Amino acid sequence: MDILITGSTGALGTELKKRFPGALTPNHKELDITNRGQVVDFFKKNKIDSVIHTAAITSVRKCEEEKEFTWKTNVEGTKNLVDGLMQSYSKGKFVYVSTACVFDGHVGMYKESSIPYPENFYALTKLLGEQEVKRLSNYLIIRTNFIARKRWPYPKAFSDRFGTYLFAEDVADGIKDVLDSDMTGIVHIVGDKKISMLELAKITSPEIEPMTINDYSGPRLTMDMSLDTERWKKYKMSKI
Ligand SMILES: NC(=O)c1ccc[n+]([C@@H]2O[C@H](COP(=O)([O-])OP(=O)(O)OC[C@H]3O[C@@H](n4cnc5c(N)ncnc54)[C@H](OP(=O)(O)O)[C@@H]3O)[C@@H](O)[C@H]2O)c1
Repeated sequence: MDILITGSTGALGTELKKRFPGALTPNHKELDITNRGQVVDFFKKNKIDSVIHTAAITSVRKCEEEKEFTWKTNVEGTKNLVDGLMQSYSKGKFVYVSTACVFDGHVGMYKESSIPYPENFYALTKLLGEQEVKRLSNYLIIRTNFIARKRWPYPKAFSDRFGTYLFAEDVADGIKDVLDSDMTGIVHIVGDKKISMLELAKITSPEIEPMTINDYSGPRLTMDMSLDTERWKKYKMSKI
């Protein structure tokens, strides 16, 4: 029986692929999660036991500007995969990678039991994806915040937005740990330190300049994305 990893060319998917070497890792073209027929066929052709679902539209700006496309991917795409696993009568687990942005970000250090209140369309669709996954009995919703370990892609970074950030590889390790423990429900995979985005950017790109939310125009952003956990351990950000 196989594990299906979606979004395998993305920041997290690339790291997950290394932790689950035997997994099926179709790219977007090979399995477009918005194409219900293609998803149904994929589940029919392959003996899929569990799913680790990371595919999504992740740019907050794109999500706001292309709501229909985003809904189709983040909400309906998740629904298609949940239905696929249900219809294959697998008792295996569905792991859904969600985000700290499901919370309003006004205070930070949100726990698994805290009440979500998304600030933007991206976060709303991720929360609605969580609801789709909850139709299954054996699911894991992983909420986290991370970046790929590479140069900061912008000249500046926010000094007034915060998170308990990890690198993608730390989150991939965390997902493997949680899966090995056979837990179900919502689990936050978090770093042990709350830092600003500027501090985060400086780890890989020391020359990055500060900016604040007053220098920004665009969709509403989650200001404090820090997460706490009452169900799992905290992780140290891996060293460069
Ligand atoms: N990065 C973060 O800060 C962060 C924080 C918390 C949670 N998350 C969540 O973690 C997950 C992974 O994030 P990431 O940063 O690794 O994402 P990413 O780098 O933006 O990659 C997204 C992946 O989804 C694929 N994809 C998009 N639409 C698809 C479709 N219709 N069918 C199949 N595949 C599709 C993309 O393939 P193509 O590029 O070929 O389209 C890509 O492989 C997401 O669910 C995200 O919401 C991310």
